[in-house]
Amino acid sequence: MREIIHIQAGQCGNQIGNRFWETIVEEHDIDLKGQCTATNPILKERLDVYFTEAAENRYVPRAILMDLEPGVTDTVKSGHLGHLFRPDNYIHGEGGAGNNWAKGHYTEGAELIDTVMDAVRREAERSDCLQGFQITQSLGGGTGSGMGTLLVTKIREEFPDRMLSTFSVTPSAKTSDTVVEAYNATLSIHQLIENCDMVFCLDNEALHDICKNTLKLSQPSFRDMNSLVANVMSGVTCSLRFPGQLNSDLRKLAVNLVPFPRLHFFTVGCAPLSNAQDRQYNNVTVNQLTAQMFDKKNMLAACDPTMGKYLAASAIFRGKISTKEVDDEMIKIQNKNSDKFVEWIPNNIKSSVCDIAPPGIPAAGTFVGNTTAVQQVFRRISGQFTSMFRRKAFLHWYTAEGMDEMEFTEAESNMNDLISEYQQYEVATVDQDESFQSAADEEEQ
Ligand code: GTP
Ligand code: MG
Repeated sequence: MREIIHIQAGQCGNQIGNRFWETIVEEHDIDLKGQCTATNPILKERLDVYFTEAAENRYVPRAILMDLEPGVTDTVKSGHLGHLFRPDNYIHGEGGAGNNWAKGHYTEGAELIDTVMDAVRREAERSDCLQGFQITQSLGGGTGSGMGTLLVTKIREEFPDRMLSTFSVTPSAKTSDTVVEAYNATLSIHQLIENCDMVFCLDNEALHDICKNTLKLSQPSFRDMNSLVANVMSGVTCSLRFPGQLNSDLRKLAVNLVPFPRLHFFTVGCAPLSNAQDRQYNNVTVNQLTAQMFDKKNMLAACDPTMGKYLAASAIFRGKISTKEVDDEMIKIQNKNSDKFVEWIPNNIKSSVCDIAPPGIPAAGTFVGNTTAVQQVFRRISGQFTSMFRRKAFLHWYTAEGMDEMEFTEAESNMNDLISEYQQYEVATVDQDESFQSAADEEEQ
């Protein structure tokens, strides 16, 4: 019960989505036929969040795989997990959006969206008490970005009271050489601000840097970067998949992490960060895990949290770890960095422990932060957007699909507003708040 429907959109969305499923079937001992071989009841207890039990002990992911071209979904289908997914939930077009957000959102994507929504409705009918949706996508391309955000609006319209979260990959010049990515990303962020409850920001700039600098890979591939994403998605969803956790559903997670509706863009970090081969030799302590989780080098978004302030944060530890030790470490880290947490939200950091460690390592931690420093990611994209838009470069590709220049202007200013809101909360202090409050009171009188 309390089911989540997962939708993966476009190349990146399908590739990270596929890695997510690989990881969680392994964690829950589900084999390639969809049979759960787990003997530990904790692994089975909440399987219905992400899986339908189609027949006796046959688990089918509640996943929809969409793209505007057949290539990537076909690769997933012929890959080793291919048989796990429901055949009618593979939905693809023939053309692709060619990096054009307008094609994904308004033309090609608009033609395919009804087929996707039919699949969404079927999945919703199969669930007992749907808690919400999660979408995996990149923001730099045409399909995951344009069509992915079209899907977000359609779901919001049809399921207004369900939670909607996305795992969204922001573009970086380090991993891609398509110039219009800043356009696509800005147009998407405009939609995600308005229509989403939670966005987990996965930034290719940071993924690339971690692979290079921490994992010492000379030429990081998407596969390497996606392993990091899969780790984090496993960590973030751990509280939804195992019983007895804090933030045990999407709504609780959002309530704890989102103090203002527009500020729902999270940075995530994970520890330990090491090669798969090295990981098994590392027996890390809670103290080391905590230090790493809060380290900017471990953040999957290229921003430095020490430059900003946390509005809220949540830390999930996994493995045979003492809760007491975790509580102590959390108090220590807050005392040490008290100026890095806004003082006007008391107790804004929560932690929990899940007994089940990820396969192959004794302990791990995942950190989800709502920090004002995330504005650095938006500033980077905004700078690239503005330099092209000022000269209206590449705009004709979008207007040719019927888009109005006005939408670019609106998207630009919405993202800039978001940046200023983060900035405003970064500098806000308790005293200021009180003077705001008394000014408001006076006005009322
Ligand atoms: P179109 O192909 O334009 O129709 O849309 P799409 O959604 O399939 O595009 P894609 O997902 O390829 O978007 C391009 C952006 O995603 C660029 O920023 C790429 O760097 C990034 N990207 C593509 N594949 C991956 C991946 O597997 N992992 C990561 N981390 N980024 C990816
Ligand atoms: Mg594509």
